[in-house]
Parts: sequence; C-alpha cells; structure tokens
Amino acid sequence: LSGDTGDRPLAGRHVIVTSGPTHEPIDPVRYIANRSSGAQGTAIAQALVALGARVTFVTGPATVPPPAGVDLRAIETAEQMRQAVEGALPADAAVLAAAVADWRIESPAQGKIKKDRNGAPPALSFAENRDILAELSRPGPDRPALVVGFAAETDDVIANATAKRARKGCDWIVANDVSPGTGIMGGAENAVTLIRADGAETWERMSKPEVAARLARRMAEALGHGTA
Ligand code: CTP
Ligand code: CA
Repeated sequence: LSGDTGDRPLAGRHVIVTSGPTHEPIDPVRYIANRSSGAQGTAIAQALVALGARVTFVTGPATVPPPAGVDLRAIETAEQMRQAVEGALPADAAVLAAAVADWRIESPAQGKIKKDRNGAPPALSFAENRDILAELSRPGPDRPALVVGFAAETDDVIANATAKRARKGCDWIVANDVSPGTGIMGGAENAVTLIRADGAETWERMSKPEVAARLARRMAEALGHGTA
C-alpha cells in the first residue's frame, strides 16, 4: 500500500463504524431505544479519518453531530443498520460502537395508538433483532480482517465482555462500565478495557477522543502487521 507509513497509516484502508442508538417504532409517533449519545463512535470515526482511513459511518439518531470526512449513512432501526453495514462491505476493519436495540416491536401499528382504549394500556410483543456484530464476525470471504465490538456492562465487566467476545467471534472487544455512578454514559470521558485473544488491557480514564485516538492507533498497527 502506497500510503502505509508515517502519520497516515490507514491510507487506502476502508473501515466501517456504527454509532448511536437505533430506534424501533411502536407506531408512527413512538419508539423504543437504547441510551446512546454517539460520542464515542463519532470520536472513533474521526480518529480513523485522521489516520487516513476511508470511513463508512452508519449511525442511528445520535445526540452529537456526525464527524466530518466520512461516508455518512443515517439509519433508524437495527435492521436498517444491519443492511447498511452489509451494503458497505468489503472493508478492512469494522468498529461496531452502536447501542443496537436488542428487540423490535413485532408488528408496529400503522396508525397512532390512541390512549383512550377503555383504560387498557397496549400490550407490545417483541421480536429479537439480528446481531450485526456476530454476523459480521462469522468466517467468510467478506469478513473484515479486524472486527472490533463494544461491551457496555454494569456488572462483572471483564468477565462478561470476555465471554461476549468469544460468543460473537469478533477480534477485539472494548469493554466499559456504564453503571450510573461512573458518569460515562452521556459524559465526556471513558474508562475502557481492550480485550483481545491474548488478554485484557485496562486503560486509564481519559476523554472519549483520547480513547478513540489510542484505539485507532492500535488498529493501524494490527492491520499493518497483519496480526489482528
Ligand atoms: N450489537 C450488534 N447488533 C445487535 C446487538 C449488538 O451489532 N443486534 C453489537 C454492539 O454494537 C456491540 C456489541 O454487539 O458492539 C455488544 O453489544 P451488547 O448489547 O453489549 O451485547 P448483547 O449481545 O446484545 O448482550 P446484552 O445486551 O444482553 O448484554
Ligand atoms: Ca444488547
């Protein structure tokens, strides 16, 4: 690769980044969602662009504005996110930082559900969304060389995230403790542990852009050495 040195080690590389929440409609005016500002995913996309990567940024309705210099794919639902990721392949690497809703409403109402239902709240029936990270990690010709997932946990962070990495088949997992007391959800900082096949490495608490810069640098090294 011509640009594979110096301060743009990801030149010529394509990286897919997912970010933000997904919204799953209940009816035309209501939805269920996960909490996510999109701050960490946005910072990661920015850091990858800064190292020269071509970034496809697949984002749900986030709080923070999208980064500059990416190929932006704005979606709402998990299924739309899955299709956008699939449509962006092939890629050298993927970082799935989105807080994807695990369930969608099985059959969203076509019209607005009215409150006046003789006092009976609606009963919602859920269906599980497909796991984008697990599907992307499956061995095959289109699998990116380096697949990075996230694990936002509130209990037994490292044990849960290590199990999640094995279950999903991704190369790395960025684990963080998002318990309410930490101030990480919606905050400016993050405290993460990078889990790879050869063990876990806990980084000091730092700003989300600093986490992003360090992760992007690590990704460039791994892709450069062919040792994801
Ligand atoms: N993820 C995904 N598609 C889904 C659900 C999750 O791609 N349908 C990705 C997330 O973007 C993240 C990783 O999988 O990178 C872990 O998400 P998480 O919610 O922590 O894992 P789950 O397997 O859904 O487990 P749980 O929510 O029960 O902890
Ligand atoms: Ca989940």
